[in-house]
Amino acid sequence: MTSARDEPLLAVRDLHTHFSINAGLLRAVDGVSFDLRAGQTLGIVGESGSGKTVLSRTIMRLNLGNNVHTSGQARFDGQDLLTLPMSEMTEIWGQEIAMVFQDPMTSLNPVVKIGRQVTEHVRKHFGVSKKEARTLAVELLKSVRIPEAEVTIGSYPHELSGGMRQRVSIAIALACSPKLLFADEPTTALDVTVQHQILNLLGIQQSERNMAMVLVTHDLGVVAGRTDEIIVMYAGKIVEQASTDQIFQKTSHPYTEALLRSIPKTDQPSHTRLAAIAGRPPNLITMPTGCAFSPRCPYAQDRCFEEEPPLQINQDGHAAACWYQVGTAENQEAWDKNLAAGRLSTMAVAKGQIVDEVPTDLTTGSS
Ligand SMILES: Nc1ncnc2c1ncn2[C@@H]1O[C@H](COP(=O)(O)OP(=O)(O)OP(=O)(O)O)[C@@H](O)[C@H]1O
Ligand SMILES: [Mg+2]
Repeated sequence: MTSARDEPLLAVRDLHTHFSINAGLLRAVDGVSFDLRAGQTLGIVGESGSGKTVLSRTIMRLNLGNNVHTSGQARFDGQDLLTLPMSEMTEIWGQEIAMVFQDPMTSLNPVVKIGRQVTEHVRKHFGVSKKEARTLAVELLKSVRIPEAEVTIGSYPHELSGGMRQRVSIAIALACSPKLLFADEPTTALDVTVQHQILNLLGIQQSERNMAMVLVTHDLGVVAGRTDEIIVMYAGKIVEQASTDQIFQKTSHPYTEALLRSIPKTDQPSHTRLAAIAGRPPNLITMPTGCAFSPRCPYAQDRCFEEEPPLQINQDGHAAACWYQVGTAENQEAWDKNLAAGRLSTMAVAKGQIVDEVPTDLTTGSS
C-alpha cells in the first residue's frame, strides 16, 4: 500500500525533448522516466552529448526557443512543471528547485558583490531587511565552509578561486532551502582535491537539509557512494537504471561496463592509461536502427543491429535495455562469437584493454 508519504517528490514520465535544426530533428532526450523521492539523491551519468543537461533544463523549463519540442510529464510535488504557467515556474526557481551549474563564472554576476548575490532570492521571495540579509549571507557562506565569510560578502566573483566560486553558487542555490537541487557537472572545472571537497559539501548539505538532489556527471566515479539511484543515459535514452549498489555490483549494460572501466582506480600506478570507449556516440538526428550502442558494443549480435532492446526491469527493480546483458550466459556466448569472428580487436574495451585507434567504420556519429 502506498501512502502520500511514499509519493515521489519528482516523477518524470516519458519525457522527450527534440530540437528542430537545419540538419533535421535532433532527439536530445527520447522517452526518459524516473522517480525521485524527498531527500534522495539520483545520479545521471553518460558521455558528452547523451542528453543529461537537456533533461535537467527541460524539467526546470530552461529550454526555450521555437525549435524546442517537449512532451511527457515532470510532476513535482503533485503539479506538472511542463504545463505550469511561466509566472508560477519563476516562483519555483530558487525557492523550491535550485540548480548549480558546471561553471560558476557563467552563473555568478561579475559586477555584483558576493553577499548581495547570495541573498537575492531570499530578498525577492521573503522581503528580509538589509541587516537580516547580511547575517543570512554570512551564515550561508559559513555553511559552505568559506573562510572569512564576513570579508567574502564584500568581494566580487573574480577575486575568488574556482573552488570558492563554486561554493558561492552552492550557497546561492541553498539560500531558500529548496526541496530539490540539480547539480549539473558541479565539479568538472575544478582540480581533483577541490572536486572531492565540493562533492562532500553537497552531500553534507543534502542530508542535513533532507533535500533531494540530482547529480549530473559523465564520471561514474563521482556518483559512487554519493547517490541512492543511478540513471545511465546513452543517446537521449536510459540504458540502465538501478540503485547505486546494483549499478556497481551487478552491472547489466555493456555501456555502463565500459564507463566503469574508464574510472581511474586508486590502486593503479600513476600514469596508467585509461580504457577509452571505442567509437563515438551516434548522430542524434540519424540514429542507427536497433540498439544505439551496437556499433560500439563488444557483445553486439545481428539482433542488436536490427531491433532496439526495450528497458526491461527485473524483480530487484534493476532495469537495463540490452539483448545480451552483462553477467548472463548469452553475454559470454556473444563475446566468444565476436572473438572467434575476429571482431574484437576494435572492441577490446570490455576486457579492459586500451583502444588507441578507432577505425572509422565504427564511428557512426558526425563530428
Ligand atoms: N538548444 C539546442 N539546440 C539544438 N541542439 C541542442 C541544444 N541543446 C543541446 N543540444 C544537443 O542535444 C544533445 C544533448 O546535449 P546535452 O547538453 O544534454 O548533453 P550532455 O549529456 O549534458 O553533455 P555534456 O557532458 O557535454 O554536458 C547534444 O547533441 C547537443 O548538441
Ligand atoms: Mg551537460
